[in-house]
Amino acid sequence: MSEYLIEKSKYIFSGELKVPGDKSISHRAVILSTFNKDMTKITNLLLSDDVKSTMYAVGSIGVMFAENNGKIFTRGTGIREYLESPETIDCGNSGTTARLLTGLLSGQNFKSVLDGDKSLRLRPMDRVKEPLEKIGANISTNNGNMPITINPSKINGGNIKITSPSAQVKSAVILAGLTGDSELNIELEIETRNHTEIMLNNFTENIKINGNKILITPDPKIINDTIDVPNDPSSAAFFIIGALLNVNSHLILSQVCINPSRVKFIDILKEMGGDISFENKGILSGEPVADIVVKSSSLKGINISKNDIPKLIDEIPVIALAMSLAQGDSKIEGLNELRFKESDRITSIVSQLSILGANIKNIGDDIEISGVEEFKGGLCDSFNDHRIAMMIAIASTRCKNDVKISNYNCVDISYPNFFESFTKFKKD
Ligand code: S3P
Repeated sequence: MSEYLIEKSKYIFSGELKVPGDKSISHRAVILSTFNKDMTKITNLLLSDDVKSTMYAVGSIGVMFAENNGKIFTRGTGIREYLESPETIDCGNSGTTARLLTGLLSGQNFKSVLDGDKSLRLRPMDRVKEPLEKIGANISTNNGNMPITINPSKINGGNIKITSPSAQVKSAVILAGLTGDSELNIELEIETRNHTEIMLNNFTENIKINGNKILITPDPKIINDTIDVPNDPSSAAFFIIGALLNVNSHLILSQVCINPSRVKFIDILKEMGGDISFENKGILSGEPVADIVVKSSSLKGINISKNDIPKLIDEIPVIALAMSLAQGDSKIEGLNELRFKESDRITSIVSQLSILGANIKNIGDDIEISGVEEFKGGLCDSFNDHRIAMMIAIASTRCKNDVKISNYNCVDISYPNFFESFTKFKKD
């Protein structure tokens, strides 16, 4: 078991930090580049364990990669000419790999088997199997879990409504639709991150978006050979909270994706009293980006309702941390989806922040918090969940005593150099 010791010291989150490329956008850049039989150049691709799972997965169906000067070059096969993988495709810890690949492979004329690690094997896969089967896929799972067998099938066009609050499910259906035999109309009941739509729109002619309706035309025609990945707001979130919670901080996080489906947590933190602003706004491969400027702030508690959760899904661990050190009471409602992440995040957040000294409890699918002045410290566990490990590290900056994190290496899932970035802000 790996342990990381964070000795009590002072942290000031000041200066400029470039967090790594966005994880969601990186998965999609790799997958969409497989449509292009010519070379695609991807800049700032996140080379983390999760994205590598997607690269290995598409590598095993015939896609090639090269690296030069930090840029990734891919040569795809086209969406109709993938090769049958001679082996089970290992999706590692990555739910995005598993679900998006299930969509992409469900309209192929060969069989594929997808599997994952212990944590991924616990995560629900029926949510993706069910809508895909409605449009013609033939998929079997192990009682709703991995391994998944995707049998050869033809995807039909027509109409489908997505009721799940999951961008992964929506993306799987979009990818399946691109392999189909006629146009597919997708209606979305709940708004979730829209990176697949944006990238597809930038890279092909095969998508039309009209409010909550998406029209997909099969056989993507490539109109672009470069995908630039902006920096990851969910990774930036840890340092944003670090800066808010520690005195004398003034941090600039450069060129972060500020897609509204991803930065709802910034609205929440501002509502709590956080001094956060966007500067140097621009557009990168269709995605809005900006430098995020954060200054130390005193925060007050608030309530978050169920409807906001899909847009905050990956930032709940650090929001709970901010609430634990804010003035007054806070409540986050309707967190059921958190039970199906890399760990049961309701349990991991509440148990680990409690160890550190937070006044936090779980009631049903809600979390209730009463802010405290300071944490004490202690021995914590990441539950092998990258976002829990990073939450604990940032929490340690407000602890009176040392903090130890067991199983800290899981930060490699989304932020391989996290601890290097973190220690930069240590002041004694
Ligand atoms: C992701 C979507 C979210 C998120 C995950 C990445 C994506 O999952 O939690 O980290 O890249 O589409 P769900 O859409 O299943 O909630």
